[in-house]
Amino acid sequence: MPALDLRPEMAHAHQPVMSPSHHGWDGNGAAVVPTPMPKRLDGKVAIVTGGARGIGEAIVRLFVKHGARVVIADIDDAAGEALASALGPQVSFVRCDVSVEEDVRRAVDWALSRHGGRLDVYCNNAGVLGRQTRAAKSILSFDAGEFDRVLRVNALGAALGMKHAALAMVPRRAGSIVSVASVAGVLGGLGPHAYTASKHAIVGLTKNAACELGAHGIRVNCVSPFGVATPMLINAWRQGPRRRRRRRPRPRHHRAQRRGGGEDGGGGQGLATLKGPTLRPRDIAEAVLFLASDESRYISGHNLVVDGGVTTSRNLIGL
Ligand SMILES: NC(=O)c1ccc[n+]([C@@H]2O[C@H](COP(=O)([O-])OP(=O)(O)OC[C@H]3O[C@@H](n4cnc5c(N)ncnc54)[C@H](O)[C@@H]3O)[C@@H](O)[C@H]2O)c1
Repeated sequence: MPALDLRPEMAHAHQPVMSPSHHGWDGNGAAVVPTPMPKRLDGKVAIVTGGARGIGEAIVRLFVKHGARVVIADIDDAAGEALASALGPQVSFVRCDVSVEEDVRRAVDWALSRHGGRLDVYCNNAGVLGRQTRAAKSILSFDAGEFDRVLRVNALGAALGMKHAALAMVPRRAGSIVSVASVAGVLGGLGPHAYTASKHAIVGLTKNAACELGAHGIRVNCVSPFGVATPMLINAWRQGPRRRRRRRPRPRHHRAQRRGGGEDGGGGQGLATLKGPTLRPRDIAEAVLFLASDESRYISGHNLVVDGGVTTSRNLIGL
C-alpha cells in the first residue's frame, strides 16, 4: 500500500478538485462543499394528467427528481408507457381521458391502490388548444362542437380532477391540487375563443374549489404559463394562418418559441418585459413543484403566472 503523504499542502490531494467555474469556491476563495439537493416531494404521491409529453413530462421528471411517486394519466399510451418505464418503478402510467369521469376515478383509484391509499398532489395539466384555422378562431364562425370539445378536456377535465382528487384527499385532511391554466386565462387575445374561455374557467374553478376545500386542509392553485415550445405550440405554429418569409433555418423549438407567446403561434417572446431567458417547460414545472410542495403551505386560490411580465406590464414609455 503506498504511504500517505501527510504534508498539509497535500491534505486535499485525494479529493476531487473543484474548479471555480464549477462553483467549487465561494466569493472569498474558500472551497464550497456541495450539499445534496433537498427533495421537496419526498415520499409523496402525485398524479399528473397529460404527463406523457410537453409541460406534463417536465412536471413528471421534476416531481420524480424530488422524491415523488408519480402516476402519469394520459391518452397517449405509447408515450406515457415509455416515459414511465424510462423513469423507473416509482412512476406508472394509467390511460385516462380527463373528460371522462370514469377514467378520472380509475386513475385516482389506481394511485391509491398502488401507493397505500395515499394521494398528496393532483396536477391537472392535460389540455388541448383546439383548431387553429382562421375560421375556427373567429367568433363569427363559432363552432359549438369545437367549443364543447375544448371545454370538455380543459375545463370539465380540471373539475373532474379536482372532484376525485378531493375525494381521496379529504379523509387525510391534506393535499395540493395544481392546475395548468394559461396566460389566455388572464388576458384576451392570446388564444382561440374556446381555449381562452376554458382557461378562464380553470382560474375561476381554482378560486372556488380553494374556498371549499380549504376547510379540509386542501390547497388549490393554478399556474399560468406564457407560450412555451411543446408539441402543442409547435403544431399550432404549423397550422397557423400566418405564412412566414423564408429565413435562415433555426432549430424547430427556437422557431416555435420566437413565433410563440400567444398559444396560437402568434405574438412572441418579445412581449415579455423580462429579457434574456427563454421560457422552458422546466420553468413551468418549477412553479408547479412550488405549489405542490409544502413550501407553499399557506398559499391557496392563487394563480401563479409564469410569463416574464407579459400580462402585468407594457413598457409604453421606454423605461
Ligand atoms: N405550450 C404552451 O405554450 C402552453 C402555454 C400555456 C398553457 N399551456 C397548457 O399546458 C398544458 C400542457 O400543454 P403542452 O404544451 O405540454 O401540450 P402538449 O400537447 O404538448 O401535451 C398535452 C398532453 O396532454 C395529453 N392529453 C390531451 N388530451 C387529453 C385528455 N383528454 N386526457 C388526458 N390527456 C390528454 C396529450 O396526450 C399530451 O400528452 C395544457 O393544459 C396547456 O393548455 C401550454
